Amino acid sequence: KHALEPNHEATFAMVKPDGLKNLGGILELIENEGFVVSDAKMTLLSREHAALFYQEHDRRSFFGELLEYITSGPVVALELMRSNAVSEWRKLLGPTDAAKAIQDAPHSVRAKFGTDKTNNAAHGSDSPEAAARELNFFFGNDQNKSDRGAFPQSWA
Ligand code: TYD
Ligand code: MG
Repeated sequence: KHALEPNHEATFAMVKPDGLKNLGGILELIENEGFVVSDAKMTLLSREHAALFYQEHDRRSFFGELLEYITSGPVVALELMRSNAVSEWRKLLGPTDAAKAIQDAPHSVRAKFGTDKTNNAAHGSDSPEAAARELNFFFGNDQNKSDRGAFPQSWA
């Protein structure tokens, strides 16, 4: 449906347990903004993996609640590609707190499908470095995709 732009970038998105019932709606917003979904995986995170994924927050007061929530059901990990994918996906995602998102970014994923600052429907990498780390965390170093940007133009 969408052609990959020559200057595309990859980012990591994750539909969280509360977002899964709106997986189709979230993918529709993603596709409408010109992202190509170039990898996807449904998985249930163990507490250990969740703690590793969110290790930057391990001293925060909400860490325990975050781990309980993110391991409460399956998540869908996505690799998204387009130009400026990292910042564009953060923009489409909206603010962390879904209640704030309704005020400040009413068309965002979190405004439409989130509930509060824990149940906020989806995750997005906050930098290209985080995207590389998080994509590797979920998808590893797939030898068949040695360059994740190497999809043929005709493929998308
Ligand atoms: P953070 O990286 O600050 O937000 P974002 O997902 O927008 O990058 O926090 C990571 C996740 O931690 C956030 O998506 C939901 C959870 N969280 C809470 O449960 N309570 C909080 O007060 C905050 C700030 C985050
Ligand atoms: Mg973050």
